[in-house]
Amino acid sequence: MNSLEAFLKTEVRETECRKIKNVNEDMLRLGHHLMPPVGWLNDPNGLCYFHNEYHVFFQYSPFNAQGGLKVWGHYKSENLIDWEYLGTPIVGDQPYDCHGVYSGSAISDDDQMDIFYTGNVKYSGDYDYIYNGRGSDTIHAICKDGVNIKSKKSVIKSSDYPKNMSCHVRDPKVWKEKEKYYMVLGARDKDDKGLVLLYSSQDKENWNFINEIRSENDFGYMWECPDYFMINDKKVLSISPQGVEKKGKDYNNIYQSGYFVVDGDIQTTYNLLDFKEWDRGFDFYAPQTFLDNRGRRIMIGWMGMPDCDDEYKNATVSKGWQHALTIPREVVERQGVIYTKPVDEIRNLRNNEEHVRNNEFYSNSEPIEILITDIESEEFKVKVCKSLIIEYSKDSKDFSVFFEDNIGLGRERRSVDLDKLESVNIFIDNSAIEIYINSGEEVFTSRFYPETNCKSVEILCDKSNNTIWTLSKYIISVKRG
Ligand code: FRU
Repeated sequence: MNSLEAFLKTEVRETECRKIKNVNEDMLRLGHHLMPPVGWLNDPNGLCYFHNEYHVFFQYSPFNAQGGLKVWGHYKSENLIDWEYLGTPIVGDQPYDCHGVYSGSAISDDDQMDIFYTGNVKYSGDYDYIYNGRGSDTIHAICKDGVNIKSKKSVIKSSDYPKNMSCHVRDPKVWKEKEKYYMVLGARDKDDKGLVLLYSSQDKENWNFINEIRSENDFGYMWECPDYFMINDKKVLSISPQGVEKKGKDYNNIYQSGYFVVDGDIQTTYNLLDFKEWDRGFDFYAPQTFLDNRGRRIMIGWMGMPDCDDEYKNATVSKGWQHALTIPREVVERQGVIYTKPVDEIRNLRNNEEHVRNNEFYSNSEPIEILITDIESEEFKVKVCKSLIIEYSKDSKDFSVFFEDNIGLGRERRSVDLDKLESVNIFIDNSAIEIYINSGEEVFTSRFYPETNCKSVEILCDKSNNTIWTLSKYIISVKRG
């Protein structure tokens, strides 16, 4: 370990030890969502299944709950509900990553974990950091024991990205296909158009540029955190675009994340079909997927949103932490429709089960899960904590989630048009809600900030079947590398 790495890791550990008690006393800390131990969290990174364990790394800024220098934090689990926090395996200790270990991915390959990420560097000088002054090499790190990083090396230099790119090229997502490796990188070109760069390699070290992947019509100025995978016979290109304008009920957040189904071959000629948002709530960004040992395509997103400080002030910041990751979701395809639904393991958190009637008032201090099926009424409404409202009308086909008072801290409404409402599965944590509609055909994820830990629910729907479970918390132990 070099001396800068040792220094940074010690600083992180001491900061965590100093602050964790206060942070954990916050009533808004979550039960079934991964959070930063202290400070700030953003994108999920390096998701993979390696040596019989799930690994979840994340963008982590332990020193400041409002962001700052990024390192990778690390959780792992055998069953997706009991977790171990392993500290910060990657910190910016090299000239190529000294201003942030930015987002990236991992694959389990050749009995090792190959990690790829972006090394962020901001040169000092009079720069705009968009078209000049920024380095963003792609770094390859190797982990053999699932805990410690054995080596890291820059494998694509910023100067080697195509000449028409701005300095914003980042977030490598790597996969293996027929003994060859492929990588997509998010990018902004010099004309401020968002796109994805495709590379390939035979050995994970030498990468060749293959193609620019663009939508037919302009779609924002920057595409962050790309991902590419097959789900049954559909080819899916997932991106988190910035600069897309709101259009009716679509694209209402400052930034989006969603996917194009790809028609054709991304290496040669292709067409990106209509863009669909992964999640319609206020807090979902930068998702990443991976394949596990059972062949499941699992997605985790950041339950947060960058750059919207003006809109609302997150109530957890003053308690020393901010943001969380979503419940892991399985991506499935049925009859041409792509669904994201909570992984089955989450059901193992279920405890006490109750059935509630139309209009019956239910409340509990524990996190809860609600499953409403066989919905036949014309009107459907669920009140969570009295003022978080979930509503559907068969007549207007509008499904909406909105806040009637300040528990949304100024956020208002998010909606989607739905032909029919069959089931709604809701996870209510101390300050977060995930709403899965029709087995994950649409999802709304949002943070909210109640003043007490009372989780009250009223289901107003005269024809439906309503079950509520209290949910145990994730068990999180700490073991540092
Ligand atoms: C997305 C993102 C990535 C970047 C990372 C930095 O939220 O901006 O593009 O790698 O966050 O933390």
